[in-house]
Amino acid sequence: MSTVVLIGTQWGDEGKGKITDFLAREADLVVRYQGGNNAGHTVVIDGQEFRLHLIPSGIFYPDKICLIGNGVVIDPAVLVRELDMLAEQGISTGNLRISPRAHVIMPYHRRLDEAEEDRRGDSRIGTTRRGIGPAYMDKAARSGIRVVDLLDPEEFAARLRDNIAEKNKVLSQIYGAPGFDFEEVLSEYLRLAERIRPYVADTSLVVNEAVKAGRNVLFEGAQGTLLDLDHGTYPYVTSSHPTAGAACLGAGIGPTRIDRVVGVAKAYVTRVGGGPFPSELHGELGDLLRQRGREFGTTTGRPRRCGWFDAVVVRYAARINGLDYLALTKLDILSGLPEVRICRGYRYRGEELTEFPASLKVLAECEPVYETLPGWDEDISGVREYGALPANARRYVERIVELTGVPVALIGVGTGRHQTIVLHRVF
Ligand code: GDP
Ligand code: IMO
Ligand code: MG
Repeated sequence: MSTVVLIGTQWGDEGKGKITDFLAREADLVVRYQGGNNAGHTVVIDGQEFRLHLIPSGIFYPDKICLIGNGVVIDPAVLVRELDMLAEQGISTGNLRISPRAHVIMPYHRRLDEAEEDRRGDSRIGTTRRGIGPAYMDKAARSGIRVVDLLDPEEFAARLRDNIAEKNKVLSQIYGAPGFDFEEVLSEYLRLAERIRPYVADTSLVVNEAVKAGRNVLFEGAQGTLLDLDHGTYPYVTSSHPTAGAACLGAGIGPTRIDRVVGVAKAYVTRVGGGPFPSELHGELGDLLRQRGREFGTTTGRPRRCGWFDAVVVRYAARINGLDYLALTKLDILSGLPEVRICRGYRYRGEELTEFPASLKVLAECEPVYETLPGWDEDISGVREYGALPANARRYVERIVELTGVPVALIGVGTGRHQTIVLHRVF
């Protein structure tokens, strides 16, 4: 019996969905605790691909309880679409529970996200334009609307009236953008509320009771450490905390109840949206990784920027999250490269930095310092035992372990649930 927090160690899209689905077999509960439908988690089961934005990636096991915790921001229309998509595929959502304390993404949040991105012009963050930032802004400003408010028509109408009056002013006077009609939004959201109502339950209570009863709980992080509001490449970050500490706040559980933290790291690096990325590859090699790894956003379809594995980033993620293990994904994508590289430090004004700098100006001047290792030709997508990997692939993994200081528990060699090599048990 244990509780495991799974987080992204890079800039998101590390393969958290696949690893969550794989580990969920041993879990009783799977919990999302931050972010919203900016996340796109891909799970492939028997060749069929599912893309989840809000519902935990444990939903494909009919006996697992899946929770959307208070720390998540929920776009009810997206949630209902996801429920319908799963129902059409014959996947039961009867074990899904949603926190009444989670905040609701409203149509004005989406429009404000768009308007603010457009206003920033060339220095735009490259958000998913899903209204995530504005929804968390309202939460912090204490003007947000929670699921519990949405379920109370009178309370909801009052809060909506107040918010629409304010947001319409901001939209028209600051951004020159159109506003919203109170009655239209009210009727749309009250209709969505009835679809969500049956799922709402005190999710913190559910998790804590499960822990007390000795069940296995898996916390599924969204985004990645370098997109964390505090620890990421600010301001090119998301508006929540994709790091392990947030599992406690976002699920309503104490830090004393977390047993282990697993960081998902891609065998190379990708980033979607703006902001620094020291080991980015701009030429043909970057294009090759993008094509082979099918590196196009799960949520927005945007091409992902690609680069070499950055040990500075993952070592930093190990520190911030207290990582016990790494799950190294997409090792198969590197097969066939004559050589592979790992960034072990950054050259900055003649010095080698080994810790991730806070200043974006410093980062912009950093040149990656690479170690070059020999590649391997073999197709490894059918390998299930660590010892059966080509020697050079093992050498690459072992160098990552040395440079990051974190043992690897799982290695991904394909999109399928079982295309996973297990080195250590996580639960
Ligand atoms: P997430 O946001 O962290 O869940 O990651 P995404 O689902 O956005 O992107 C990861 C992509 O890589 C998805 O298309 C997965 O199906 C795929 N993937 C995950 N693990 C592996 C792996 O080990 N090998 C390969 N080839 N693909 C993988
Ligand atoms: P998963 O869970 C990759 C990025 C956006 C943008 C920045 C802010 O699939 O790994 P936001 O809409 O959150 O305000 O955008 O964060 N971003 C992600 N990048 N994977 C994600 O989620 C992301 N969620 C947000 O591209 O750079
Ligand atoms: Mg993703």
